[in-house]
Amino acid sequence: MNRIRFLTAGESHGQALVTIVEGLPAGLELSEDEIAIDLRRRQRGHGRGGRMKIEQDRVRFLAGVRYGKTLGSPVAMLLENRDWPNWTQKMAVAAITDAVQPLHMPRPGHADFAGMVKYRQDDLRNILERSSARETAMRVAAGAVARKLIKQFKVSIFGHVTSIGGVRGNFSALDFFTGENAYNAERLARWQVKMDDVEHSPVACADPVIGTEMIKNIDAAAAQGDSLGGSFEIVVLGAPVGLGSHVHWDRRLDTLLSAALMSIPAIKAIEFGLGQGVAERPGSQVHDELFYNDNSGYYRASNNAGGIEGGMSNGEAIIIRLYMKPLPTLSQPLQSLDVATHQPQKAFHERADVCAVPAAVVVAEAMTALTIANTLCEKLGGDSITEMQEHFKDIAHVPLGW
Ligand SMILES: Cc1cc2nc3c(=O)[nH]c(=O)nc-3n(C[C@H](O)[C@H](O)[C@H](O)COP(=O)(O)O)c2cc1C
Repeated sequence: MNRIRFLTAGESHGQALVTIVEGLPAGLELSEDEIAIDLRRRQRGHGRGGRMKIEQDRVRFLAGVRYGKTLGSPVAMLLENRDWPNWTQKMAVAAITDAVQPLHMPRPGHADFAGMVKYRQDDLRNILERSSARETAMRVAAGAVARKLIKQFKVSIFGHVTSIGGVRGNFSALDFFTGENAYNAERLARWQVKMDDVEHSPVACADPVIGTEMIKNIDAAAAQGDSLGGSFEIVVLGAPVGLGSHVHWDRRLDTLLSAALMSIPAIKAIEFGLGQGVAERPGSQVHDELFYNDNSGYYRASNNAGGIEGGMSNGEAIIIRLYMKPLPTLSQPLQSLDVATHQPQKAFHERADVCAVPAAVVVAEAMTALTIANTLCEKLGGDSITEMQEHFKDIAHVPLGW
């Protein structure tokens, strides 16, 4: 990420998480309430642990915003961990005489083992506190800012769960917005109904019947002390043609989105459009033929490319599918060992989720928003929202049909 950058700091049970988002234009309206909406969505989902009830996440702006608008300077946000009073000793900053027993049993599937060896730590808490997905709360806060930015240019991002532990739904946005008049009122209304269903579903699933099956699946895994992964789709609507570039490997939009999305803990695979399906079909059944008429402008009859060709957005909906592994902390822990004695032991267990796929959707929306915002800023240039809007008028004359 070059134009818009962000860093996070903070341990899972430390005092607070912080982020600095750099490169935002001046004049973007922002409020703590807006950021709270996405933070609340990240805490949703059937199968989340007790922590979600303790942490009612809400950020405070520390810098970069005045009278409700960005200044063009770095935006700093603080998110306090409400559980901190219970961790003042275990996570004390200063050296303490009465040190807590170190944790020695790395959890398979987590950063514990490699992190302990790499950083020469004999207490796995020194690794897990940072590798914990608690950090993704700050990504969601930064992503909410990016979402607000791209909204000024009518770009929206929405995700929904397509499978949990092998229970699969059929709904996909892949064929939803293709064809002549792809963004007509009737289709947008149907899409809105689907999105409302997702927001009301405890598993963020567009199909209530499948959603109920997913919930049963999570409950069965919980009863066994097990965990579940799944898959989900991220849809970007309204991205103008030409975000990203074909000219260098590291400017391709699919490169940038892949890096951003694969950085989310537990995400193990990514697909664009038809994804792995492209390997099975001849070219005539994969590539999206081009058409034009005066009403719709340019349009396609299919969107197998998922809105990206040659490393650039092509004006169609950008459609990404992500696959998440089951969470590694199990209440029936897997076999591990004590790294101090090499004696077999069960892996360490701390309060954890059974399934976090619906939460991961919100993290992925955030990382997508940051990537799209970055490429949009690169495409439009400008140091203020006003300037960006002036430049946007110049590229928006291309008749794309919405
Ligand atoms: C939103 C979210 C919540 C998560 N919650 C947990 C959890 O409660 N317990 C757990 O063991 N892993 C959880 N994870 C996954 C771990 O962070 C992840 O599996 C671990 O960092 C190793 O994954 P990696 O090998 O892909 O880095 C969560 C991931 C996400 C995205």
